[in-house]
Amino acid sequence: MEELTRPPDTRAGLEALTRALLRHARLYFEQAEPEIPDAEYDRLLDLLARAEAEHPDWALPDSPTRRVGSGPGSVRGEVRHEPRLYSLANAYSEEEVAEFAERVRAALGADPAPPGAGGLFDRGPEERAPSWFCELKLDGASVSLLYEEGRLVLAATRGDGERGEEMTAQARRLANLPGRLALPRPPRRAIVRGEVVLEHAAFRALNERRAAAGERLFANPRNAAAGSLKLLDREELGARGLKIFLYEVALLDGSPLPESQAGLLDWLEEAGLPVFPHARRCADLSAVLEYCREWEARRPELPLDTDGVVIKLDDLAARARLGWTAKVPRWALARKFAATAVRTRLRAITWQVGRTGVLTPVAELEPVQVQGSTIARATLHNEDEIRRRGIRPGQLVWVEKGGDVIPKVTGPAEEATGLPEVAWPAGCPECGHELVREEGEAARRCPNPACPAVRQAAIEHFAGRGALDMDGLGERLIAELIRTGALRTAADLFHLRREQLLACERMAEKSAAKVLKAIDEARRRPPSRLLFALGVRGVGERAARVLLRHAGSLAKLARLPASELESLDGVGPRTAASLRAWFDLADNQELLQRLAEGGVDLERREEESAGQGRDNPFVGKTVVLTGSLAGLDRVAARERLEALGARVSSSVSPRTALVVAGAEAGSKLKKAMELGIPVMHEEEFMSVLRTLGETRAEKP
Ligand code: IVH
Repeated sequence: MEELTRPPDTRAGLEALTRALLRHARLYFEQAEPEIPDAEYDRLLDLLARAEAEHPDWALPDSPTRRVGSGPGSVRGEVRHEPRLYSLANAYSEEEVAEFAERVRAALGADPAPPGAGGLFDRGPEERAPSWFCELKLDGASVSLLYEEGRLVLAATRGDGERGEEMTAQARRLANLPGRLALPRPPRRAIVRGEVVLEHAAFRALNERRAAAGERLFANPRNAAAGSLKLLDREELGARGLKIFLYEVALLDGSPLPESQAGLLDWLEEAGLPVFPHARRCADLSAVLEYCREWEARRPELPLDTDGVVIKLDDLAARARLGWTAKVPRWALARKFAATAVRTRLRAITWQVGRTGVLTPVAELEPVQVQGSTIARATLHNEDEIRRRGIRPGQLVWVEKGGDVIPKVTGPAEEATGLPEVAWPAGCPECGHELVREEGEAARRCPNPACPAVRQAAIEHFAGRGALDMDGLGERLIAELIRTGALRTAADLFHLRREQLLACERMAEKSAAKVLKAIDEARRRPPSRLLFALGVRGVGERAARVLLRHAGSLAKLARLPASELESLDGVGPRTAASLRAWFDLADNQELLQRLAEGGVDLERREEESAGQGRDNPFVGKTVVLTGSLAGLDRVAARERLEALGARVSSSVSPRTALVVAGAEAGSKLKKAMELGIPVMHEEEFMSVLRTLGETRAEKP
């Protein structure tokens, strides 16, 4: 079949795709000889699901989208968990932890150790103390994974612990999860469990992208992780950079189960599965309490959210003797950390003007301490959020510091009786211009393009990270250049003269030259980054890439009708209309003209700069290929990497930056893991190549 990039829109096309997928499913399940990589199967299945959603009456009764249960597939079914997933009892104080330890000790002590119970019941009675294993409690979404003969075949969300939702296709997009176990003799079946998380940096990037596209923000990384597992759009899912860390082996069929939690984690690591660091065996209660204190204090060092420590009995045989209640194991406990939310008084609400003119409410707070830092300002998101939560100035409110660096007010902490209404601003707090509030928009906007706050924010965005990345052009310098009249629009950056920079405070020859060099480099960035930099409402980084891949160049995009753009993946009618309106505005045509005069090539094609974006993880790196890739032969993979600016080497050394591992990866993968070198597994590799817009060359 010719390569399919859109859902088929004829009945015959849909039937052909259904038949092709059924054939691939048979090859996979019955012959165990897949012809296409799992990711490609998932992609095609997704196209079919979308086509069926458009034309439900065309769907064939045996459509592979209707199958439930194991196997490659993105359409969700219900999965029964066997064994079930348990929750954990919580402890909020050291006393509660001590009581738990005593309960466990008594229960085990009352029941004399059976022979061979291992090191748990050492010689004397005073040594009959169980030993503990402490792990950080990751705050994400828990999931269960099934590997058969070493291949990931099924993933499911926790659900109610007995039944969850299938998310196999989503699991294949987790940044650090291998599709195959790195074991020479994998178990027939293995069920492993863990937590899907979004690290702070990824969470911030996601919310920044959503803000740029005018989408609702996620309140915290946990919600973002759980929400992402429902996504069907695998490119978006991959772009979010979700990770998983495993902490439980619920079933090992065909291999002996280790004897302790420490042994389980070792097994997971040997299998190449990600395990969160910092877990520790603790000999007694005081060591457990010490671990909890240490990590409560070190929490800010971690790249992700944790809400406590999970204390587990280390010995699995002893666990089995204690057993489970209906909901929780009797041998484990969650020691919760102190909340990250505090109460304080909201003194006033002020308004900040952003680059699109949108007014964001800012909470001016009575300063409070949260997790070791003083907070005096926090975001209130938008006007609707304030109304919805019924927040008023003068009120006691809850302030939370989560994964986001910016703290936020999450709600009122007392009734608002007698407090004055919020005074909504009538004019722009920066330029006084009348504000607009469009139908269906949560925010008021200053529509004045000459508003100094709008100018400043727009140019900061233009030169900022993810956009044109002009090093050295910070907030302060931009403000000064605006003040001196050197900058009116972002395009003026490309006309800046050395003297204009030197006239600024603290600008010497060297720093001015650096800024000019950064500006010059920005002329050669991919056009999709330029489009994102322009700050068109609704056009985030991803939409910008999709749009330019479609149009070819910015100049061509400027001529396309909205109707042609709105059907693009991830674009939609609103963004298409906003883009059209942007290009039609005389001011913006002038801006483009001035960009061109400043040496920015608007005809530059997206492909010419493919892989020069910051998403190219290969550029300038030494990469080693190991194992076999189902979708690409070795020579093609090597060429592809080299085209993306990587050096491909054949042996793993401390200088290796990345190992790409396919099936049956052996000693090189092992060495990479010993040296702590990042490993990218096949599915992720193929998906990154696709994201970078490379053409695919699958094995015949
Ligand atoms: S063990 C039978 N270990 O916490 C024991 N859970 O409140 C099952 N969690 O649903 C859980 N980090 O999603 C365990 N290191 C860790 C964990 C962890 C996070 C989550 C898990 C569970 C919830 C219980």
